[in-house]
Amino acid sequence: MCGIVGYLGKRNATPIVIEGLKRLEYRGYDSAGLAIIDTEGDLKVFREEGKIIDLERIMPAPEKSFGNTGIGHTRWATHGEPTVANAHPHICCRNQIAVVHNGIIENYKLLKKKLISEGHIFVSDTDSEVLAHLIGYFYEAEHDLVTAVKEALKLVEGTYGIAVICSDNPDLIVAARKGSPLILGIGNDEFFITSDVSAIIIHTKKVIYLHDDEVVSVTKENFEITNIDNEVVKAKISEIDWEVSSIEKGDFKHFMLKEIFEQPTSVENAFRGRLDHKLSTVKLGGLNMTPDEFRNIEKIQIIACGTSWHSALIGKYVIESLARISVEVEYASEFRYKNPIIPPGTIVIVVSQSGETADTLAALREARTRGVKVFGITNVIGSSIARETDGGVYIHAGTEIGVASTKAFTSQVTVLTLLGVLLGRMKHLAPTYGKKFLEELKMIPNKISEILENNHYIRNIADTIKSSTNALYLGRGFNYPVALEGALKLKEISYIHAEGYPAAEMKHGPIALIDKNMPVIAIALKDEIYDKIISNLAEVKARNGRIITIATRGDDSVQDFSENVIYIPETIDVLQPLLSVVPLQLLAYHVADLRELNVDQPRNLAKSVTVE
Ligand code: M6R
Repeated sequence: MCGIVGYLGKRNATPIVIEGLKRLEYRGYDSAGLAIIDTEGDLKVFREEGKIIDLERIMPAPEKSFGNTGIGHTRWATHGEPTVANAHPHICCRNQIAVVHNGIIENYKLLKKKLISEGHIFVSDTDSEVLAHLIGYFYEAEHDLVTAVKEALKLVEGTYGIAVICSDNPDLIVAARKGSPLILGIGNDEFFITSDVSAIIIHTKKVIYLHDDEVVSVTKENFEITNIDNEVVKAKISEIDWEVSSIEKGDFKHFMLKEIFEQPTSVENAFRGRLDHKLSTVKLGGLNMTPDEFRNIEKIQIIACGTSWHSALIGKYVIESLARISVEVEYASEFRYKNPIIPPGTIVIVVSQSGETADTLAALREARTRGVKVFGITNVIGSSIARETDGGVYIHAGTEIGVASTKAFTSQVTVLTLLGVLLGRMKHLAPTYGKKFLEELKMIPNKISEILENNHYIRNIADTIKSSTNALYLGRGFNYPVALEGALKLKEISYIHAEGYPAAEMKHGPIALIDKNMPVIAIALKDEIYDKIISNLAEVKARNGRIITIATRGDDSVQDFSENVIYIPETIDVLQPLLSVVPLQLLAYHVADLRELNVDQPRNLAKSVTVE
């Protein structure tokens, strides 16, 4: 979604901001812009629809757009189409103040009406432009940019991460946040503002994560953080602990492919240091819970969106099976508006790769308002969800750039499975099971590597289905959510309509769609319900369906009804999703690539959905 980059220092801000914006491209956007205060002290603004490369085309050479202070923005349209007029930065009527904004100003219509009645002229359809005029309005009265920003923000309802510059103060950036991430980067005699550390990590690893209602004023020499009521805030400087290489593609054609191939390592990172071989169990210290508190859990509600919702659903199957605790899985967007029933003894877990998904964050807040303990399973350290929960577990998947989530999914599933074992062992699960689980889990990274060796074979299968218009994914039990995830992967990057179903449900409707043209991708692994799914696939075969089967290595019988079989290594039931999803990720990737689509930045999608 929208991204912010700002620079203030001795270097030319323009190339730094442009480079930072390029690093944010993965988040999804449809227009971009940049404002600098040049050496003459003039505010220069450049905006363009499309990609950063289009913005660069309309800009003068960097030496001709020199200035030490600059802010830039990638916009993912919410209010108003992706046009030049709607792109950020927005400027005040006097052409002095430029503002970039992430989030949504909910009362913008009211504010806009008032400002128009005061003579302000608006040129865009956005909610964000109101901020430029409002700050301009207070600046005229106060002649102090920090005060003007605070006064303006006091009138605003909604969410924002903003960065503001003013040609009267060429050596100043004012930035503020509420509900939308904003980070101050501290370099050597230079500062950065960003909504995502990926934009600035090549310059500095020292950062301050701003909290809601905080305002930072940055000059070339220093910075000060205050809250909206002018109290000085003592901020904590954090060190980013990942490398620039993690946000570069290396030899891979796309980030998504790189991230699929990183899974042997990312899954291992999700369980490293969390296995207790002595007691044949698992440790998840970040939950800050005593054994008694664990034992007193009567119900779990897991809240998430998209792929994270699918991993949550696997979590339900695992926890219910191993710990016999009832688990409800909710879409965050539904939970937050439905007056949810949260019985005593319930804990809530929110699952989010980014830790910034607006609906998940709102659901978390709603649950906490009701006095329930909320735990987070997130990837991004210091994210809003990580900070606002009562405790949590980082999945340590490393930066995920591809919009289609892959390695974060398997890492989430790993952590949820660990939780299932932990809760199970607290209750009735035998140590022999715990021991077997730990042994099997340790073999998973190698088994994923073995599946990845089939990459070329899977690409050949992808070639046979790349022109399909529909696809059906079937699975049962632990692999039913994997079928949902496989279908989501295919539709979001290849734009082929795909549905995931519990295999037996097929005969209650979707079977009507089956013909020789529609690929049916079935997960039919050797487990307790193997025979059941084989019967379901016989029904597909009887209707001339073309079946691609994910099967357990050595199972020859599936050959009879399958057009193609992708074999994966055997493991225990609860760990199957960590293996069965990998060929589905590769299949979706290759279909999209063979269709010559923009795999890493599929149309209309954003990496982190920070608006409702
Ligand atoms: O960052 P989150 O895990 O909260 O994001 C949730 C969804 O927006 C995300 O999983 C989305 O569905 C992905 N594009 C899936 O690949």
